[in-house]
Amino acid sequence: MRVKDPDIKYLFEPQAIAVIGASHNPNKIGYRIVANILNGEYPGQVYPINPKGGEILGLRVYQSIEEITEEIDVAVIAIPAKIVFEAVKKCAKNGVKFAVIITSGFSEIGNTEEENKLVAYAREHNMRILGPNIFGIYSNKASLNATFGPSDIPPGNIAIISQSGALGIALIGKTKAANMGLSAIISVGNKSDLAEEELLEYLVSDERTKAIMMYIEGIKDGETLDTTLQMATKKKPIVVVKSGRSKRGAIAAASHTGSLAGADEIFSDIMTQCGVLRAESIQEALNWCQVLSTSPLPAGDNCVIITNGGGIGVLATDACEKYGVPLYNDIETMQNIFTEVVPDFGSVKNPIDITGQATFQDYGRTLKAALSSEAIHSIICLGCEVAGFDPELFSTTIETLFSAHKLDKPMVFSFVGGPKIEESIYCLKARGIPIFINVYEAVSTFGALYAHHRNLREYAETGARTSIIEQEIESGTINDILNQVKQKNRQFLLAYEAKELMQAAKIPMPVSSIAQNLDEVVKAARKIGYPVVMKVVSKDIIHKSDVGGVALDLENTDEVIDAYQAIIQNCRSHMPNAIIEGVEVAEMVQVGIETIIGARRDQTFGPIVAFGLGGIYVEVMKDVSFRALPIDRKEAIAMVKQIKSYPLLLGVRGEPQKDIGSVVDTILKLGAILERCESISDIEINPLMVYAQGKGVKAVDVRILLST
Ligand code: COA
Repeated sequence: MRVKDPDIKYLFEPQAIAVIGASHNPNKIGYRIVANILNGEYPGQVYPINPKGGEILGLRVYQSIEEITEEIDVAVIAIPAKIVFEAVKKCAKNGVKFAVIITSGFSEIGNTEEENKLVAYAREHNMRILGPNIFGIYSNKASLNATFGPSDIPPGNIAIISQSGALGIALIGKTKAANMGLSAIISVGNKSDLAEEELLEYLVSDERTKAIMMYIEGIKDGETLDTTLQMATKKKPIVVVKSGRSKRGAIAAASHTGSLAGADEIFSDIMTQCGVLRAESIQEALNWCQVLSTSPLPAGDNCVIITNGGGIGVLATDACEKYGVPLYNDIETMQNIFTEVVPDFGSVKNPIDITGQATFQDYGRTLKAALSSEAIHSIICLGCEVAGFDPELFSTTIETLFSAHKLDKPMVFSFVGGPKIEESIYCLKARGIPIFINVYEAVSTFGALYAHHRNLREYAETGARTSIIEQEIESGTINDILNQVKQKNRQFLLAYEAKELMQAAKIPMPVSSIAQNLDEVVKAARKIGYPVVMKVVSKDIIHKSDVGGVALDLENTDEVIDAYQAIIQNCRSHMPNAIIEGVEVAEMVQVGIETIIGARRDQTFGPIVAFGLGGIYVEVMKDVSFRALPIDRKEAIAMVKQIKSYPLLLGVRGEPQKDIGSVVDTILKLGAILERCESISDIEINPLMVYAQGKGVKAVDVRILLST
């Protein structure tokens, strides 16, 4: 038995492989796997295992893995679920490094106990498990097709990790149809042990893999995935397609902000934070991977559109805005580059319009001008099938230019027209040219390319995500407050405790004090200054307004006296058993922009922060941004800018800009509190009132929950 886990390299590059359940029947999965391994010309040793013995496809069949004395790196298991555990035991005892369990019938149908049992046994013996419930693994580097999918997987430089087996097999067909080769495809199924993270570690270091696509349905360990992806995207572009919203995350979300947006928004924001490109569909992901795996990165932000039609040019301009493709604006330079090749009645402003009478020679000249200018960094070339437009000549022009210059700068094409055009597009695509029938599809590939480019550029400028900037928070004091609450066996903080905690974090709250009787209430109100608000203080009353325990906008002593008496009476009559500890008198907060900031331990991703617009429309607007912790100031600013209501903070209709710096500070502080105070599960300021620049923010209400 090994003393430590095997290197993931052996899963992708095994020297010897066993197939447990290698069937004599060509219709069975166990036969298919052996046949695929042999068809793929895997150079290592192959050991079919079946108690019946005999021979399969010319190979000796062993009756048990125990008969094999040579080292086995991978055992593919394709026998019924009820006998898989016995096979796993034998594999582990025989020193197998990875068990690839094809078999279905485990946690996906509720048989979690059996799945856990085999993982526990394997892990005890330092054997790792891929699956169960998978179609297998293909690794181009090892010429290994250990799947029961197609036997002819075209080699190439896109790697796919798929949680769905059937979709994974279909993807092999789709990549083949699009003439895109694969460096690897791995089915992860139930992810009982190995998940995306460890596979990514191998794939980012595999020189054949140029782009990675992942199809995800659910996440097992979001924190590890987050950490892995942060680094992996700095080495290779990663495209993800995720279906299904995490019910677990949504149900378990105790915090208001979490329940606002649901787990899918959290996933999306964290993927963007990691530099992952999230595609809407499988087709979009494949389009992006095609371009990301073959195109050079743009040297800069100057993209030009070349077109023979104004309409299609405008469509592409819209698409550029949608997908974040930066269009070149320097009219003078563009005039210098294109005046000679664009007719007088055309346009040398971006989009460069060479007009409907452009010939294939005009296209050639314009493309060459753009390719040879250093000022231009990427080209979107469009065409409409107009009279005299010869699809064959255009195809030849494009193919020649693309082949000669494909490594110089990114190029993408889209042509719109009849059957002949579509046929040419199909042929060009098959020859590896990034050409699309739909302009938006074409531009979206550039969106992905530029997003990856920006991600790398930012990383080069700022380095890896670092720990939170030292904020002025007194963690010692905060932890003392929390310990006292824990000693009282309470899992939430009372208003005055939350206030003390906010003070220790230097987050401003409205001025307030706790009064025990009418006399103290009147004195407190005078000291604070009118108008004031009053709230009952009782650990037994959580929803204070519901029982009449709150009074707002009290202008004078008489109103304060009346309100005090009403609050006490209301609370006593609604909740006679509640212990009333006093009444909080606080300044009446000035109106500002209401926002929400939350920080909590997410079931999937661990510590996260959320920022959003508050107020009465918050449930409808769901205007919230999320990040995994830690975050730095730059990321916190990005969170604030991301919400749709950001213009409100900039000030609309002549209003002054709001104190965005203080909002950012508060986000960082809540993040720091959650990171440093283990016992907090959830902290939310709602609303955080934001005032004009220089006037700061005020945390009007704070809710803090402790972990159970
Ligand atoms: N060790 C090795 N081989 C054994 C064995 C053992 N302990 N016990 C039985 N076998 C042999 C059988 O004799 C049979 O060989 P044969 O056809 O030559 O007789 C072979 O293993 C397969 O066993 P069988 O009982 O015929 O199972 P099966 O082929 O009908 O089904 C699975 C096995 C794994 C394919 C099936 O249980 C299953 O899970 N199918 C779904 C797979 C799937 O869809 N996965 C997800 C993809 S996305």
